[in-house]
Amino acid sequence: MPREVGLAVVGLGRMGRLYAEIVSRVVEGVRLVAVWSRSRAKCEEVARELGARCVETIEGIARDESVEGVIVATPSYTHADIAAIFVEAGKPVFVEKPIDVDLGKASKLVSLAERKGVPLLVGYMRRFHPDYRRAKEVVESGELGEPVAYVGVSKDPEPPPPGWLRDPRLSGGLVLDLASHDFDLARWFLGEEPIEVYAVGGELCCPGLGDFDTIVATIRFGRKVATVFSSRKSSYGYDVRSEVHCTEGAVFIGSTHVSTLAIARSQSIAFPGVSWFQKKFFEAYVEEVKHFARVVKGLEKPLVSGVDALKALCVAIAVRRSLEDGKPHAVPC
Ligand SMILES: NC(=O)c1ccc[n+]([C@@H]2O[C@H](COP(=O)([O-])OP(=O)(O)OC[C@H]3O[C@@H](n4cnc5c(N)ncnc54)[C@H](OP(=O)(O)O)[C@@H]3O)[C@@H](O)[C@H]2O)c1
Repeated sequence: MPREVGLAVVGLGRMGRLYAEIVSRVVEGVRLVAVWSRSRAKCEEVARELGARCVETIEGIARDESVEGVIVATPSYTHADIAAIFVEAGKPVFVEKPIDVDLGKASKLVSLAERKGVPLLVGYMRRFHPDYRRAKEVVESGELGEPVAYVGVSKDPEPPPPGWLRDPRLSGGLVLDLASHDFDLARWFLGEEPIEVYAVGGELCCPGLGDFDTIVATIRFGRKVATVFSSRKSSYGYDVRSEVHCTEGAVFIGSTHVSTLAIARSQSIAFPGVSWFQKKFFEAYVEEVKHFARVVKGLEKPLVSGVDALKALCVAIAVRRSLEDGKPHAVPC
């Protein structure tokens, strides 16, 4: 039987808990050896339930020889500092998106990983979903001509609850927390670097949020273009769609419904909507963990690298500047 790859999960909130379960119960060839969370009680509870060890400190995970790779799912403003501890220890890291909210810290992490030769994967998971992978294959095959424009729509059902995720300084706000998925996809599909952005938006649907809740960003790449529309409120559920327009055709990814079950009445036909991202992208998270295990074994290079994630952060910075002063901004890095 092939040797199992020992993985640790750091941060056991919504995402960390999901990854811990995927590692221990869903993906073959990996083993959850250790977990850490800020709350000791949560750490011990998850460890007991999933047969892993609760390690007292992040440094303890970095020193643990049974840990071959680490999944970091802590709040966005802590990513670069925490990931750097594992990179320093020579352990491959899969850190959730965004790479960080701070460009200086994020750039330092990417340089450190390059210098040490330690793989760094960042969790822009849409790239792992079977529909997006198939779309990428079709676009790359050239059968639709050249990809020239990307259109992305990303809407959360509800604004984030009070806490770090609601605070744009800690989460990056709507622009970095949600819309950056589309900044990453636009660059991935179009195969060019983003040059300049112009964005408009406001507090249009969720007064008092303290952040832009609705934005439209236009991005100019070398010769190509993209539009990204993001909202913190979608009354009919989670809604994520993309289009890649090509010179000889187009691909359309996603819809407002996941099931083919339709209930037809005299006035309408209704499809069950998509409730939440963890349901819609479950397969993508599983594929991401499988990919990370192959990265740890040295069989593959990270599909979403630190440099890719830095680019998404740089676009987000330019979008934020444009939203604030109403002018076009060059992508600063
Ligand atoms: N790719 C995706 O689809 C996707 C979706 C959602 C979120 N995310 C990303 O995943 C990351 C985690 O989000 P989440 O929704 O899982 O967050 P969450 O539910 O708030 O969980 C955060 C975890 O980090 C711990 N934590 C809190 N503050 C910390 C600090 N200052 N230092 C270290 N650990 C701390 C918490 O510990 P205690 O609870 O024990 O205090 C908890 O275990 C974020 O970066 C987010 O952007 C990605």
